[in-house]
Amino acid sequence: MTELRKPLIAANWKMYKGPRETREFMRRFVGLYPPRTDRTIIFFPSAISIPAFLEATAGRPDLQVGIQDVHADLEGAHTGAVSAPMAAEAGVGWGLAGHSERRSEFGDDDADVARKLRRLLDAGLPPILCVGETLEERTAGRLEEVLQRQIEAVLGGLGGRTWSPPVLAYEPVWAIGTGETASPADASEAHAIVRQVLREAPGDATRGVVLYGGSVKPDNIDALLGARGVDGVLVGGASLEPASFARICLGETGDGRSDLQLL
Ligand code: PGA
Repeated sequence: MTELRKPLIAANWKMYKGPRETREFMRRFVGLYPPRTDRTIIFFPSAISIPAFLEATAGRPDLQVGIQDVHADLEGAHTGAVSAPMAAEAGVGWGLAGHSERRSEFGDDDADVARKLRRLLDAGLPPILCVGETLEERTAGRLEEVLQRQIEAVLGGLGGRTWSPPVLAYEPVWAIGTGETASPADASEAHAIVRQVLREAPGDATRGVVLYGGSVKPDNIDALLGARGVDGVLVGGASLEPASFARICLGETGDGRSDLQLL
């Protein structure tokens, strides 16, 4: 464990970039982003491109890699799925759980997300739990209730496992892939709610790392990283181009991050 106080910046490539494009991206990216000790960088490529990522970054252990989704079972007759132990064996170090696209497109509910997160923990992969409200929920004044439900479902299902520190990404659904970003003030407000839920939960989840996600771009990264309570970002579209993501990784940090230790 080293002192964190450094932002965690993650790229979610979703269903973009096969092995060839992954190698090409990393070849350009390493030239644009020299190793730095004052931030943590994690890529979430397509599962099929993970070996190519690892090969292309063999000389850059500072560039970490995670799996975008795992199945809630350890193994079984689940055509097309990947388990957490398989991901760990393939060399990944992190996992996403509960991304809004998994929830809306694939029907993952809070119970599924809780099971997947447990599988990641059991496989030794620190999870990043994605939470966030739809526009309809926000407009109806249900932000707090939605975040509380999504987080408590996972904390309540840990079954005695340690998730420390919990890492969450607040990603308002209305800001994902839309070009519409939450203002730094909106992000701070939601992050404060996330922390409040963590504080009030039973167990030892009081100290969380909270990322913001939703149309993060080179031109808003500095403001977001400078916002109170924003410990880093999860980036989709703007992480697909090397110069754009390198600029985001080099974002100016403010004083808003929580004072805690991580990784
Ligand atoms: P976006 O995606 O940056 O393209 O909005 C973010 C995410 O889905 O994690």
